[in-house]
Amino acid sequence: MIGVLGGGQLGAMFAMAARRLGYRLAVWDPDPDAPALKLADLALSAPLSDPTPLKTFADAIEAATYEWENIPVAVCETLAQRIPVRPAPQILRVLQNRLEQKTFLTSRGFPVAPFRAVSFPDRLVVPQDIGFPCLCKTATAGYDGKGQWRVSGPNDIRPVREELRRQGHSPWVLEQFLSFEKELSVVVVRAADGDRRIYPTVENLHESGILRMTRAPAQVDPGTAERAATLAGSVVEAMEGVGVFCVELFLMPDGRLFINEMAPRPHNSGHYTLDACTVSQFEQQVRAVCGLPLGEVRLLCPAVMVNLLGEDLIKVGSGEGLANLLRTPGAAVHLYGKKSVRPGRKMGHVTFLSEKPDAAWEAALALRRALGRPGLPQAPPR
Ligand SMILES: Nc1ncnc2c1ncn2[C@@H]1O[C@H](COP(=O)(O)OP(=O)(O)OP(=O)(O)O)[C@@H](O)[C@H]1O
Ligand SMILES: [Mg+2]
Repeated sequence: MIGVLGGGQLGAMFAMAARRLGYRLAVWDPDPDAPALKLADLALSAPLSDPTPLKTFADAIEAATYEWENIPVAVCETLAQRIPVRPAPQILRVLQNRLEQKTFLTSRGFPVAPFRAVSFPDRLVVPQDIGFPCLCKTATAGYDGKGQWRVSGPNDIRPVREELRRQGHSPWVLEQFLSFEKELSVVVVRAADGDRRIYPTVENLHESGILRMTRAPAQVDPGTAERAATLAGSVVEAMEGVGVFCVELFLMPDGRLFINEMAPRPHNSGHYTLDACTVSQFEQQVRAVCGLPLGEVRLLCPAVMVNLLGEDLIKVGSGEGLANLLRTPGAAVHLYGKKSVRPGRKMGHVTFLSEKPDAAWEAALALRRALGRPGLPQAPPR
């Protein structure tokens, strides 16, 4: 039995991959409606800081992983005294905090946007090497662009300080806003024996800080895709990470690559691997956690993934909208079965597959039109 901390859609897709290989699952999530709990042999719904379920969980499992990084490191440390926890708790500790993550990356010579720690709202100033515009982000617990404020010019400093005071989630990171040409990401899998697999470099489109579309492979020249893959592989190597990691990158107009952030788990931009690759990112997580040989990461055909958010479900979550989607050749529809539908909440995704990359792209754009969002996701200033 494998233990999973966190029971969202990433945990559910992990659970399905684990079941396919014959494993049983223990899932622990505070939300009784969490999608992965329904797929678990042992479903624990209680706060992750609660010591009582920890014993039940620990006694039931032989290896553990997590599906998101905002979980207590202490729980992983306790588990790691008895069983393999992958990625290791010390990696989780670094990656769940933007400051520690950026400090680690910089110390190893990896390129990140110029940044500073902000410990108190009143200390928010914009040094010259960062300049305007810049972004202030919470160091911990941010996701889908939540907990981020744009500082466009000196007049924004005071209102952002007030926001930080209201939020009270210190510390924060102030970082330069990079006018990137494209956003790329790379999923890297590394086994305990050092064996490593790198999925194709993909291209991501965000709207209001939320991932909307992923195109695999990225429409960049082969040299750039290769540099991105090499960079992502070296970062995971530098951490001696075991498990699945995603490295998010900014490609600048002059060809430079910067690391935005990395995640110690399968990533939304890797969902296309479920339908378009020989072995998915979730099955690789199972293999890495259980000490099995890693699988092939071959892209079987070009793919475009479109996320379905809460507001999209009205259009394509049921009825004729869903029927049209299900009828579309090459469309693989995934719905996470979350009970509460909220705007901006990730409710499902569709991956369009086609031998001809343009056809998958056209099908994805047709879905955008059906969702009432014609054209490409735009990233307006936040
Ligand atoms: N320094 C930056 N310059 C330009 N754009 C940025 C910068 N930082 C973040 N963004 C934009 O905001 C998006 C979300 O930011 P980031 O990845 O830091 O947030 P997050 O909340 O951790 O998101 P997620 O968990 O969805 O990856 C990025 O993918 C990018 O589009
Ligand atoms: Mg991100």
